[in-house]
Amino acid sequence: MSENTIKNIENFVDEVRDSGYKKVESFLTTNECLDLERNINKAFRKAKENNYHTKNSYVKILSISQDDAENIKYFNFLETFFNDSSIISFVKNYFETNEVEISKIFIAESSNNGEAVDVLPYKLHFDKTRYLKFMIYIRNVGPGDGGITFAKKEWNTKLQEELLSKQALQEENVVEVDDVSKIDEIVGEAGTGVIFDTNITHKAGQVLSKNKRLILRIDTRPKIIS
Ligand SMILES: [Fe+2]
Repeated sequence: MSENTIKNIENFVDEVRDSGYKKVESFLTTNECLDLERNINKAFRKAKENNYHTKNSYVKILSISQDDAENIKYFNFLETFFNDSSIISFVKNYFETNEVEISKIFIAESSNNGEAVDVLPYKLHFDKTRYLKFMIYIRNVGPGDGGITFAKKEWNTKLQEELLSKQALQEENVVEVDDVSKIDEIVGEAGTGVIFDTNITHKAGQVLSKNKRLILRIDTRPKIIS
C-alpha cells in the first residue's frame, strides 16, 4: 500500500494541548477508508487469537505491534501508519522530545449489544497512563453510532483539578455526567480523525444504532527507556 495522504496536521498541536482533543475532518480520504476496510476484514479473518484483545459477538478488537505489522503479511498494510512522518513529527512536537513511539495500533469493530451499559469504558473517565491517541473512523459515525465523547475544555479543567488534588489517583477515574451540554460527542464521515490526549476526560462510544462502527486507533507516547 502506498503512503497515506494524511492531512497536514502540524498546526493542531497547540489545539490538542489546549483543549485535550481535536477533530480532524478528512484525516484520510474515502478511498483510503474503503481500502483499509478491505484489509481490516481480511485481518479479522486471518488473525490468530494472540492478536485479539477482545472477540465476542458485538466487539472485535485486534492489537497490533510494529513487529506484527512488519512480519505478518495480513498486517503489512499498517506499516505505513507506524512509519508515517506527519504522525511521528506531531507526537514529537506534542511531547517535546525526539524519543517517541507508536506503542500499538488497535482495530475495533463494535455493534449494538442490545442494551445500554453504564460501565467503563463507556463512562466518562480519564486514564492514569498518558497516551496521545489518533482515532480514525473507517465508516461513517452519526449520532448513536458510538462516537468518542469528551468533556469540553472548561469542564475538563475543573474535573482535572478536582481529581488530581486527590492523593491516590486511580487507574481509571470515573466522572458522572450531570449536563450533556458539557460534553462533545464526535461524529463524522468515514475518514474523520480525532487526536486526543488520554488525560482529557473521555468515554468510549457505545453503539446504540444498527450500524457497525469500525475504527483504527494509533497509540503514541514518549519512549519508555528501560
Ligand atoms: Fe480511557
